[in-house]
Amino acid sequence: MTIAYDAEGGDERWQSVLRACHDPEPAIGQPVCGLWDIYGPIAACRHYPYVIAQLGQSLDGRIVTAPDQSPAISGPEGLRHLHRLRALVDAVIVGVGTVVADDPRLTVRLAQGPSPARIVIDPRFRLPERAKLLADDGVPVFVVQSCTGERARRVQPVVVPATADHAPGSIAPAAIIASLAQLGFRRILVEGGAHTVSAFLAAGMIDRLHVTVAPVIIGRGLTGCNLTPTNGQHGMIRPQTTIHRLGSDILFDCVFGDIR
Ligand SMILES: NC(=O)c1ccc[n+]([C@@H]2O[C@H](COP(=O)([O-])OP(=O)(O)OC[C@H]3O[C@@H](n4cnc5c(N)ncnc54)[C@H](OP(=O)(O)O)[C@@H]3O)[C@@H](O)[C@H]2O)c1
Repeated sequence: MTIAYDAEGGDERWQSVLRACHDPEPAIGQPVCGLWDIYGPIAACRHYPYVIAQLGQSLDGRIVTAPDQSPAISGPEGLRHLHRLRALVDAVIVGVGTVVADDPRLTVRLAQGPSPARIVIDPRFRLPERAKLLADDGVPVFVVQSCTGERARRVQPVVVPATADHAPGSIAPAAIIASLAQLGFRRILVEGGAHTVSAFLAAGMIDRLHVTVAPVIIGRGLTGCNLTPTNGQHGMIRPQTTIHRLGSDILFDCVFGDIR
């Protein structure tokens, strides 16, 4: 099923989606519109923790542009979509690789709504001291690490021990989500990068995956999903999927409800 996205006159409708995050009975009486079709299931979800992941990729499945190419893969509506996702969640997770590569702010700027708490998975203390996401803007910043150690004053460490049944130094995504849920985070966005989204997907910790595909071919570089074969092969995952148009980009809204 393909649903056309209504980008016009969206502000009031967007506010109703934001309000639905806190409504006691969110699914009732919501207007049927493109925004609600895309974001309503996230705003109306009451099964916590609810974990959404996102990937903004090219036609050839790449999530990073080459140094000689323009940095943005997604078009303007695809980028606005990412900011809307941030506005709907309590916390946004990135791996430290994304912070080192991109120095993102992880704030909501291209949509209305609050900026979520920022979570960096950084087991080897690689988070740069001057990272933009450490800006003193009142939004909490947490760093997931597997052992205690010195951190910048701005950062609240969340110690989650590495587990023996994963790759050395790797922290089980289920344990990360459990720790974040204990801190009170209900809707959580895993924003990237490839390693982090893939690990959460492989661990069955993603309830919903939003993949936006922009009509560009990058030709080389990192792809979004890299799952390690288990017992020689990895079973094909076929989530329940709805397709939406976001300006120049296509959104695949994939639900993994039965997998988790
Ligand atoms: N297009 C998009 O949607 C999008 C979104 C976000 C990022 N990106 C791109 O993705 C690239 C970065 O991706 P990436 O795969 O290299 O890095 P990443 O996923 O951002 O970070 C990976 C690193 O984070 C730590 N980490 C993550 N999960 C962990 C876990 N469960 N246990 C222990 N450590 C964990 C590890 O740090 P250590 O290595 O220190 O052990 C790991 O190497 C960037 O170039 C960025 O531009 C694209």
